[in-house]
Amino acid sequence: MSFIESIKARAKANKMTIVLPESMDARTFDAAEKILKEGIADLIIIGTPEEIAENSKGYDITGATIIDPYKDPNRQKYIDKFVELRAKKGLTPEDAEKQMTDDYMYYACLMCKCGDADGAVSGACHSTGNTIRPALQLLKTRPGIGSVSGYFVIEVPNCEYGEKGQFIFADCGVNPQIDADKLAEIAGLSAESFEMMIQAEPKVAMLSFSSKGSAKSDDVTKVVEATAKAQEKFPGVAIDGELQLDAAIVPSVGQSKAPGSPVAGHANTLVFPDLGAGNIGYKLVQRLAKADAFGPILQGISMPVNDLSRGCSADDIVGVVAITAVQAQYAKK
Ligand code: ACO
Repeated sequence: MSFIESIKARAKANKMTIVLPESMDARTFDAAEKILKEGIADLIIIGTPEEIAENSKGYDITGATIIDPYKDPNRQKYIDKFVELRAKKGLTPEDAEKQMTDDYMYYACLMCKCGDADGAVSGACHSTGNTIRPALQLLKTRPGIGSVSGYFVIEVPNCEYGEKGQFIFADCGVNPQIDADKLAEIAGLSAESFEMMIQAEPKVAMLSFSSKGSAKSDDVTKVVEATAKAQEKFPGVAIDGELQLDAAIVPSVGQSKAPGSPVAGHANTLVFPDLGAGNIGYKLVQRLAKADAFGPILQGISMPVNDLSRGCSADDIVGVVAITAVQAQYAKK
């Protein structure tokens, strides 16, 4: 069974409620029809009657709950919650009302925060920054976590590396500035995400252009420090670095460049040294190896909220909704 088939089956086994705020895009309704038909999740779609009528033409979305943000009986509850959450930033009720109707992602996050939805998916027609900023501002990090980061589940066809060609790559989507502490935290979160998504033992490689001291620079030192911090913070998890990509995933190279490492040659969870490397790395594998890339999936956030690529298809939205539903199942445990 492919990764996404297995995720859909897990989502169907215990249905969660996912909110879709992008009623201005027909792909939302194409995806909603598929999600409802397959029984992957219960759906809430935010939009005015005009937006829904205009963009849902030709799609059967019977069973979805439609929320008109101007007439919703819960509207005042969300305004109050928004003002409470942003009190220190001086948000007024008028500003709150305007922001959540100008940008339905704020509305969706408030529904999650108030317990009226289990997760949200957006980004088909909004940039990553604009999709995740409302989530960072309103939902915040999980207790004990300093930063939200973004990973991809990568599934490479006919590949003997990783977990039968399946990997997690992080951070590929969120943190433009990264230090050793953040990298160490990403290692722990990514190991947890690997177990949640792939249901196998994570082996985490802290990637660099150096393997075990083969090169010296501040960038290498950052990864060396991050590896030590991660190993100390997550003693039960197989984490090693600094490793070059080939030493991380190819057994013969791992054996020669990092002999005795519990990870080298067998890594399935790849922590990149910065956002540039992570973002470029996943796109290289996706395009050149024709891998499936699911994400960016947020980790470390208090409730599951996920971003879509603006080039996404309706099937991509279905996949990300299923992933979000599985994250919601875990969040409720
Ligand atoms: N974890 C937790 N909270 C965060 C994080 C984080 N990593 N980053 C920012 N925040 C919080 C801040 O603390 C702040 O909270 P506050 O308003 O309560 O004080 C809020 O989010 C807004 O943060 P700002 O510092 O004002 O940052 P900004 O809004 O400019 O940006 C963002 C945050 C959107 C995550 C930004 O860092 C960003 O754009 N990152 C890159 C996204 C991107 O373009 N990725 C590549 C494309 S994705 C792809 O190719 C698949």
